[in-house]
Amino acid sequence: MQIFREKDYDAMSRRAAQVIAAEVVHNPACVLGLATGSTPVGTYKYLVDWYKAGMLSFKGIRSVNLDEYKGLTPDHDQSYRYFMQSNLFDHVDIVPENTRVPDGLAADPARECAEYDAYIRSLGYADLQLLGIGRNGHIGFNEPGDHFVQETHVVDLAESTIEANSRFFATRDDVPKQAFSMGIGAIMGAKRVLLVASGEDKADAVYNTVCGPIGPQCPGSILRLHPNVVLVADEAAFSRLTAAGVNP
Ligand code: PGA
Repeated sequence: MQIFREKDYDAMSRRAAQVIAAEVVHNPACVLGLATGSTPVGTYKYLVDWYKAGMLSFKGIRSVNLDEYKGLTPDHDQSYRYFMQSNLFDHVDIVPENTRVPDGLAADPARECAEYDAYIRSLGYADLQLLGIGRNGHIGFNEPGDHFVQETHVVDLAESTIEANSRFFATRDDVPKQAFSMGIGAIMGAKRVLLVASGEDKADAVYNTVCGPIGPQCPGSILRLHPNVVLVADEAAFSRLTAAGVNP
């Protein structure tokens, strides 16, 4: 695992954006696995700025997103499709048809999951998969449990995830209780993984990912079995590792 410990959120965002930009420049037809949540917002801002400065083009890029709330329309302001449009897609030259987010309204969820996996396989998996991490160690919406789920699936969100995400909704009851999530198989199938984390409340999850036992109780820990992972964390998210003497 290649580790970058950055001073703060902005430095973390800039470093993560550099890793993505390098991939896009190196391989202008690459497949990007993309993530939502508050952590990557700054990363996308840098990418949009660099696109506007003429340093990057997303014209040949295809993207697959990690997850989507079940039951939210694409234009719902908390849907992950809406997030991707407003934080990245609407501001760069990516071809809309080349972006894919699970369909939160799919009438046949099992079919949507199977088709999503078939699509990812048809692309040859992501060249670079961006991941945030939940406070409980989840990646995508692969919540802690007693086994890993390989395929794209419908997840019952953990209470702690509903609690954490309620900050984006008017009330806690408005937070969807289920989501579509890419499985561990597609995440581990990516050629390279970029894990980003910011803030003290991620310090345990980052520590458990890097130093804890590898297993489904901390889904992020499986990344230690991936041959090409880049972790970019700010000092606050890195604090438990720093205390444990890990010094990149
Ligand atoms: P956050 O979410 O970036 O909003 O903290 C990350 C995640 O839950 O994967």
